[in-house]
Amino acid sequence: MALADIIDHYDRSAASFHRWWLPVIEPAALHLLDLIDPLVVARPAAVIVDVGAGTGPLGRAAVVRWPKVRVVGVDPSEGMLAMGRAAADASLDPPARRRLTWVTGVAERLPIATGSADAVVSSFTLQYLRRRIVGLREARRVLGPGSAIAVMTWLADDRPFRPWAELSEVLRELAIVRPPTLEPGGPFRSLPSAAALVRRAGFREVHATEGVVEYRWKRGALIHCTLEEEERPLIDALDGPTLARLERLWTERLARLSEDDLCYRDKVAYVTGRA
Ligand SMILES: C[S@@+](CC[C@H](N)C(=O)[O-])C[C@H]1O[C@@H](n2cnc3c(N)ncnc32)[C@H](O)[C@@H]1O
Repeated sequence: MALADIIDHYDRSAASFHRWWLPVIEPAALHLLDLIDPLVVARPAAVIVDVGAGTGPLGRAAVVRWPKVRVVGVDPSEGMLAMGRAAADASLDPPARRRLTWVTGVAERLPIATGSADAVVSSFTLQYLRRRIVGLREARRVLGPGSAIAVMTWLADDRPFRPWAELSEVLRELAIVRPPTLEPGGPFRSLPSAAALVRRAGFREVHATEGVVEYRWKRGALIHCTLEEEERPLIDALDGPTLARLERLWTERLARLSEDDLCYRDKVAYVTGRA
């Protein structure tokens, strides 16, 4: 998938993402703030750049957690940024809101001055970069001396999520072919390879650690999230009666699964380093 397809996807599914998928990934994303805490303690007025900010969970949490930091959220999807602005307006007081700005742009070419940032963070975005090294070198460019990077995304994990395996069965049954994945970079293959990449981008003191995403789905919410966000390119390609049939068959299969089957578990990798 090209960047334009990814942007189009997020522009159209921003509301569903924010409502259904963000609660799944947010706790794992917010751990990045713990990882840069020592840096912010040493530099209370730090400028933090959030690459692939989406609807802004990191920025909102950072300006609440630290009273002087400023956060610049960068994302190519206007739809996600608009949703982020609305969430900030609804949840932050004006002084905190003023320390959070939003800029349209991509990781590979950050609209940020060289050496101007104290920290770069990025959650669940590197899987969209066809050439992750380019985005990581851009992060290195915008960071000043002694500053920090803390990034995270999915770590390769073969455990299937039963509800999505059942959906694949339904697709097979209906002879529906999935469109190509929206995530050209894919997950990190391993912790050592993730760390090696960040070192290669010019960082030192690099460490990679594993984390988990665990979320207990309710059936209705899972159906909404999957059809409106995760599988949106597929669903967009179907006519009304086919989609209704798919939804009915999948709902029947979901009804036979246990609560434990509905618990989503996946691995993530965190990588930190110094500029
Ligand atoms: C799964 S969302 C994660 C958003 C947010 N970081 C979070 O944790 O909720 C992925 C985000 O990456 C953005 N994205 C995709 N390709 C990108 C690129 N090349 N540079 C920067 N952001 C990108 C998308 O627009 C989307 O907002």
